[in-house]
Amino acid sequence: MTGRVQDKIALVTGGASGIGRAIVQALVGEGARVLIADINADAGRALADQLNEERGAAASFIQHDASSEAGWNEVAVAVRERYGRLDVLVNNAGILLKGSIEETSLDDWHKLLRVNSDSAFLGCRVGVALMKDSGGGSIINVSSIAALAGKDDYAGYCASKGAVAALNRAVAAHCRKQKYRIRCNSIHPDGVLTPMTVASYPPGIDPARFTIDSDPMNRMCLPEDVAAAALYLASDESRAINGIELRVDSGQFVMSI
Ligand SMILES: NC(=O)c1ccc[n+]([C@@H]2O[C@H](COP(=O)([O-])OP(=O)(O)OC[C@H]3O[C@@H](n4cnc5c(N)ncnc54)[C@H](O)[C@@H]3O)[C@@H](O)[C@H]2O)c1
Repeated sequence: MTGRVQDKIALVTGGASGIGRAIVQALVGEGARVLIADINADAGRALADQLNEERGAAASFIQHDASSEAGWNEVAVAVRERYGRLDVLVNNAGILLKGSIEETSLDDWHKLLRVNSDSAFLGCRVGVALMKDSGGGSIINVSSIAALAGKDDYAGYCASKGAVAALNRAVAAHCRKQKYRIRCNSIHPDGVLTPMTVASYPPGIDPARFTIDSDPMNRMCLPEDVAAAALYLASDESRAINGIELRVDSGQFVMSI
């Protein structure tokens, strides 16, 4: 039996936790070999070890700051040395900082743009360079519903994820024009039950209470729901899908317009 991404080589940034971790598990579960990149070495190594125990040589880990240009150069070398090519890149690493336009400091603004937007820019640049050498691939940028809707309490986060969405369109258009056979799509989750969102809830409120499993009108989904979208975009099933913004929000966005 072959998997949906059998023998594809994938790189997932921020792959040690939350959505990235679920994407790594989904890709490995469908036959890919995955390079997990994360600043959190303990969690990233532990995940790679666990997957290798369960499935043979399915994963490896590299400690990587996704906002660092030098770090991306090291990742490109690691991909070439360990695997020889790249088929799937998931630019997922990101941070969340709260603040309206009146509350956000310039430091926080810069931090959000550095970790969320610079990382996608550097990742796409390296991804295109690697994939065009090996005949094409799929780049998946994890943006957010915050790129599409106004979230009053998250001015800097909205802007940083808006940059990812705009970049995604430009990369998709460029690769198509150059006939690289590289697709580039963005995913836009709303609330996902991960350490990031749990940390943003006030103490005493359990966000698990708001999942779509408990109430279909609620928008909080699970990391596996986003991973299912990423798996589709990584696989050849989506070979005609390019430059899209795929919302994973249980329809919250259409309810708000
Ligand atoms: N959780 C949500 O509700 C939600 C909604 C929309 C979009 N997103 C986006 O999904 C992505 C994953 O978020 P999550 O909820 O899984 O968060 P998370 O905090 O659970 O995981 C984020 C991972 O990224 C890593 N990371 C952080 N900064 C990094 C850096 N500079 N370099 C490399 N790795 C870094 C962390 O170590 C962690 O492993 C983020 O881009 C986030 O903005 C999340």
